Amino acid sequence: MCIWTRVFNMRALLFLVMLLSAVSQPQAFPFSASLDVDVTPRTTVFVKGLLDSSRFTGSTRNYSTLLLEEEAGLLYVGGRGALYALNASNISTPASPRVDWDASPEQKRQCLNKGRDNKTECFNHIRFLQRHNETHLYVCGTNAFRPLCAYIDSERFSLSSSLEDGRDRCPYDPTKGYTGLLVDGEMFTASQYEFRSSPDVRRNFPFPTLRTEEAPTRWLLEADFVGSALLRESVNSSVGDDDKIYFFFTERSQEQMAYPSRTKVSRVARVCKTDWGGQRTLQRKWTSFLKARLVCSVPEYELHLNVLRSVFVLHGRDAQSSLFYGVFGLEWKNIKASAICQYAFSDVQKAFDGPYMEVQDSKWREYTGKVPEPRPGSCITDVHRSQGINSSRDLPDNVLTFARRHPLMATQVHPTGARPLMFKRSVNYVRIAVHKQPALDGNIYTVLFLGTDDGWLHRAVDVRGEMHIIEELQLFDKAQPVESLVLAPALRHIYVGSHSGVVQIPLSACRRYTSCYDCVFARDPFCGWSGRECVEVSHSRWNLTQDILKGTRGCKDNSGNVVHRRRSVMSGDDVLLQCELHSNLATPRWTLNGRELQGYGLNSGYRVGTDGLLIIGAGVQQSGSYRCFAVENAVSVLVYFYTVRVHTDPYFPMEPTAATDLTSALGTTVIAAITAGLTERPPPSLPAPLSPGPELRTYRHMEAVYISLVAVLGGLCLVLTVVLLYVSFCTRRVSRGRKYSEQGLQVLGATERKQSSHLELRSMSSHYNGRQGRRSISVPTFGDINDGFLQIVPGEGQVSPGTTPPPAPPLPMPPPLPNMEYVNGLSATLPSVLRKMNGNSYVLLRQVDQDGMSPLYHSFTEELNRILEQRKHTQLDLQPDESSI
Ligand SMILES: *[C@@H]1O[C@H](CO)[C@@H](O)[C@H](O)[C@H]1NC(C)=O
Ligand SMILES: *[C@@H]1O[C@H](CO)[C@@H](O)[C@H](O)[C@H]1NC(C)=O
Ligand SMILES: *[C@@H]1O[C@H](CO)[C@@H](O)[C@H](O)[C@H]1NC(C)=O
Ligand SMILES: *[C@@H]1O[C@H](CO)[C@@H](O)[C@H](O)[C@H]1NC(C)=O
Ligand SMILES: *[C@@H]1O[C@H](CO)[C@@H](O)[C@H](O)[C@H]1NC(C)=O
Ligand SMILES: *[C@@H]1O[C@H](CO)[C@@H](O)[C@H](O)[C@H]1NC(C)=O
Repeated sequence: MCIWTRVFNMRALLFLVMLLSAVSQPQAFPFSASLDVDVTPRTTVFVKGLLDSSRFTGSTRNYSTLLLEEEAGLLYVGGRGALYALNASNISTPASPRVDWDASPEQKRQCLNKGRDNKTECFNHIRFLQRHNETHLYVCGTNAFRPLCAYIDSERFSLSSSLEDGRDRCPYDPTKGYTGLLVDGEMFTASQYEFRSSPDVRRNFPFPTLRTEEAPTRWLLEADFVGSALLRESVNSSVGDDDKIYFFFTERSQEQMAYPSRTKVSRVARVCKTDWGGQRTLQRKWTSFLKARLVCSVPEYELHLNVLRSVFVLHGRDAQSSLFYGVFGLEWKNIKASAICQYAFSDVQKAFDGPYMEVQDSKWREYTGKVPEPRPGSCITDVHRSQGINSSRDLPDNVLTFARRHPLMATQVHPTGARPLMFKRSVNYVRIAVHKQPALDGNIYTVLFLGTDDGWLHRAVDVRGEMHIIEELQLFDKAQPVESLVLAPALRHIYVGSHSGVVQIPLSACRRYTSCYDCVFARDPFCGWSGRECVEVSHSRWNLTQDILKGTRGCKDNSGNVVHRRRSVMSGDDVLLQCELHSNLATPRWTLNGRELQGYGLNSGYRVGTDGLLIIGAGVQQSGSYRCFAVENAVSVLVYFYTVRVHTDPYFPMEPTAATDLTSALGTTVIAAITAGLTERPPPSLPAPLSPGPELRTYRHMEAVYISLVAVLGGLCLVLTVVLLYVSFCTRRVSRGRKYSEQGLQVLGATERKQSSHLELRSMSSHYNGRQGRRSISVPTFGDINDGFLQIVPGEGQVSPGTTPPPAPPLPMPPPLPNMEYVNGLSATLPSVLRKMNGNSYVLLRQVDQDGMSPLYHSFTEELNRILEQRKHTQLDLQPDESSI
């Protein structure tokens, strides 16, 4: 009967509920401190901020198969109906050689008749691309559901005239899990090749072709393959007789699981390279096929990540020291979560040398009986030859019969350290590449490159078992899964294949770190501070400052990077002192006149938020010097210095310096409004253009803003003078309205104690700009004007021409350029801005490009309900499967 509903691990369930709620709500569940379920990337870099990147987009799409030949400096790319040979130093070099190879119109028509999608499937999707010999590559494509293979002359980059039937070596389906290797003229592949056939691990050539067994014991059950690797394990053998091919996949579990809630299980399997099949038993079948379970669990929550999405094999000096890394996810596709587990091949070998499983009374149990000799599943080596067994065909029948019934090992393969290297909720990693980087402290650090299903790349470093995500990089404008990741350690590049193209980025971009602290806090093993700039360690190793272990040591002071600002405000006003922290891991710390500002509670008159300090209803006693420190790795670094003066006289004349703040506080929209006012109305009628017309909304994008900036800067001074004259004659009514635009904060899992203050800030600011509610991000607008009065927070010692200078600044400070604040203001308009939230998680400010649909309208409850609803269906679907076992 249905095991499913009966046995469901309660802790795992609880954890999943927590996952769901954490993803869906700002008020996250209180996670236990021991499990860091959400490693926050230190910095967030958007497409436009990528440094030294190159892109390639040909006339086609689905650039999913990459082959790098680093010595030749070439990156071969297999796309949909085409192959390219790109210059690996810069893949955007124009006029790269190309081979067109699409399915014939006749084949496409047949494909359509088979009920296939002629917009995505009925093409020749290149799925296999590897070197065959010195002169030729071997390539296979789906050819609109009738696979073909061919040779490519790599000198001339042209397709051979004779094509080979690819039906036994390449899947029909462009999306089916598939992996393959071409080694020493032998081709090994694994996939579900045909529509109705079972998945299979094959040697396609040379003769005889070998495959997996289906009866009486099915060796593979709905297997979905993600990777394969050759390990040369032979010791003192000239013929490589103990070399093995490993395959990595997820399949439906056959054995009785301890966790029946899961139907899938991750596996590693292997075959011997020199297997020839059996003589009578296991004829043309592997005699050396063995598989074992791969475990990747979070022990505290008994959370088992059972779906293997990708592997990366890191070859060591020998097979014993080789490692592999797996990216695991949950079976439920609608819950985003990922874990990275690291395994040692020596543990895999131990599992294959351990006890077997056997079906007893239609259940899989550990086999405890006698095991025949030679040990079933082993490769034929000199030891066997000395016993007269020259090849697998000479194996005795009882050994082969045993092998046929015992493909599964009882020992499970656990990750090193018995737990994942990293667990990350709300992110689906789909590809992984690993690089070992020596650092200046003499240690060699493991750097993980993780591609997500929405086109981001995370760079993470393993610091003594703790993962630190150095940065997250947005690779594409349009969200799309990372299809392949290829590292070029010598060229120091990483290539990413995707639906829309190939991107090449450097392994590190140290000059993005602009200060010593930034460079050291990043804990990037590729980077060091030279005293003037952050540079690649490989370029110069002399006198560089780097601290991967702690990320604290080596920097002296930050005086060159402190931003000085002045604010003059009316008593009773609310003032936002901005303090944008570059790092998502930094938390702000504020002092007033050198004393710690503590407790940002309701009655303190302060709120601290993600982008600054809010002084609510400023009183005279709140005048003084405010310092904002970025606290990261327990080090405080001064970043902002504000001098705030609170005036009591509500009628004190507007300082001319308000000009700067007018542009800054009101940001881009003011300029837009003024431009609009300039063209439509005479300048003295200032309040009129303030009502947000449609033209205000069109200035959302940076490009437009820059263009508008350039266009208006010339006239700006003149206009501002007029505006100021006007404003200074107006009587200003002190309104209690707030000046901050609603920023549409979608909190992606706030975890910490001080949450309440953030939420207060959020809810406080969210009642402004009701008219802007449809946008999740709005540039500051005039939405807070009451009765046509504009409330302006004066500040900034900027002298406008033709007006009286402001009081002498109490501190030496460079006069801020009018567009400095302006640039600050822009940060709120970036699309999909991920920003810090209290150091341990971050908020997503999202801007949706198409009109009308705001993520805010997508309520969290709706989202949760949807996920739960979908999960219910998943469960219902799974029941028949389970009970049929
Ligand atoms: C690659 O080449 C293109 C055009 O030839 C150039 O614009 C780009 O800057 C180059 N990229 C790198 C990383 O050198
Ligand atoms: C090919 O790319 C398109 C988007 O351009 C995508 O919808 C489709 O799923 C991709 N197909 C494969 C097989 O990756
Ligand atoms: C790749 O481009 C670089 C210049 O960017 C050039 O020096 C090199 O020869 C090119 N390599 C190949 C294989 O064309
Ligand atoms: C796909 O097939 C339909 C007919 O079923 C045809 O109208 C359409 O043009 C085809 N699309 C492509 C891209 O070939
Ligand atoms: C490489 O393989 C191709 C295709 O089988 C063959 O035509 C060619 O002669 C081979 N080249 C060498 C150098 O063996
Ligand atoms: C294995 O090879 C040796 C020498 O080549 C031969 O004497 C022996 O008969 C072979 N054994 C079998 C089982 O074929």
